[in-house]
Amino acid sequence: MASGKNAIGLDIGSSSIKIIQLKETSRGVHLLNFDMAILPPEAVVDGAIMNFTAVVEKVRELIAVNRIRNKDTALVISGHNVIVKKINLPEMTREELNESIQWEAEQYIPFDIKDVEVDVEILNPRAGQGQMEVLLVAAKKDIINDYESVAREAGLRPVVMDVGCFTIQNAFELNYGFPSNEVIALINVGAAVININIVANGVSAFTRDINMGGQMLTEEIQKQLNVSYEEAEHYKTGGEGTISSSSIYREVQKLAERVSETLVTEIQRSIDFFAATTINLDISKVYLSGGSAQIPALIRSLERRLAVPVELVNPFKNIAVDPKKFDLDLLQRMAPMAAVAVGLGLRRADEK
Ligand SMILES: Nc1ncnc2c1ncn2[C@@H]1O[C@H](COP(=O)(O)OP(=O)(O)OP(=O)(O)O)[C@@H](O)[C@H]1O
Ligand SMILES: [Mg+2]
Repeated sequence: MASGKNAIGLDIGSSSIKIIQLKETSRGVHLLNFDMAILPPEAVVDGAIMNFTAVVEKVRELIAVNRIRNKDTALVISGHNVIVKKINLPEMTREELNESIQWEAEQYIPFDIKDVEVDVEILNPRAGQGQMEVLLVAAKKDIINDYESVAREAGLRPVVMDVGCFTIQNAFELNYGFPSNEVIALINVGAAVININIVANGVSAFTRDINMGGQMLTEEIQKQLNVSYEEAEHYKTGGEGTISSSSIYREVQKLAERVSETLVTEIQRSIDFFAATTINLDISKVYLSGGSAQIPALIRSLERRLAVPVELVNPFKNIAVDPKKFDLDLLQRMAPMAAVAVGLGLRRADEK
């Protein structure tokens, strides 16, 4: 464990911003702050910050209301703005890798190499036949720049840029630990992105982001019921006036079933791809997080189609929470949305 303070975790999602401050001590992890702010529709689209002012304003509010004084901040990006790939390269030293990666990476990245920031980690320095296994992460410079600018404009200092599928892995490890000899799928279903990370014996074996999410259901409700974004969100999350006998409720349920099937079909495609490219790795369980993990039809559909048990992740399970400072009911309701933020909040300010 690195020394130094935990970074502030700032998760700018497409439907809301989450901010977290954790404190790791020898006696465990403590929650100092957690809060969320709903974003107006279209403020963040496909991971790109479209309404810079609105996003900065919300971050400022979150910092002020929660009296956050730390500046060092960990940010996260997901979706098709970031590429994560395991590749094999000829064995070389870290220095040689640093020098050649820009050139080596080019063939694995569907963007112009000049437009991306590339990072590498050696996973296995001796993978056999003179090769080593390397994790390649490439992210679009303009997107990184957007997120860092928001943080700076809100008075924060960006020090870590993380990737969605790795944040849920770190959050899961803290709260559940990784069982040995088991393959589990961590799936975070947000508003616009689904992060998948299949972990075998505690090591990530496969990651994939799908640019789809619960927003698809909001849009369907808007269209079919001819209501605004806000009303659709209200109906979808079972807000007041959506008692189970009403026709609106039944219509929303029907749409939820349909959208869930679409989302699960995409998830299943990724998992089938994983299964086809690995041997002897059968997923025994799915751990679900993200706001859209609260769509009951999605859970049912996942269980049926993948034929494995699905459990909702509680990202605060192993985090000490002071009941005098936090409304525990409210925190529990926000928990599915907090997984990415928890993973971010575990990062250290002095990490790179
Ligand atoms: N009780 C609920 N039932 C159904 N959907 C819900 C519920 N609560 C939240 N959601 C949905 O979850 C989504 C928000 O989840 P989350 O906060 O994980 O996404 P995000 O981080 O904002 O987006 P991104 O996909 O960009 O990461 C929204 O689409 C919201 O409508
Ligand atoms: Mg998210």
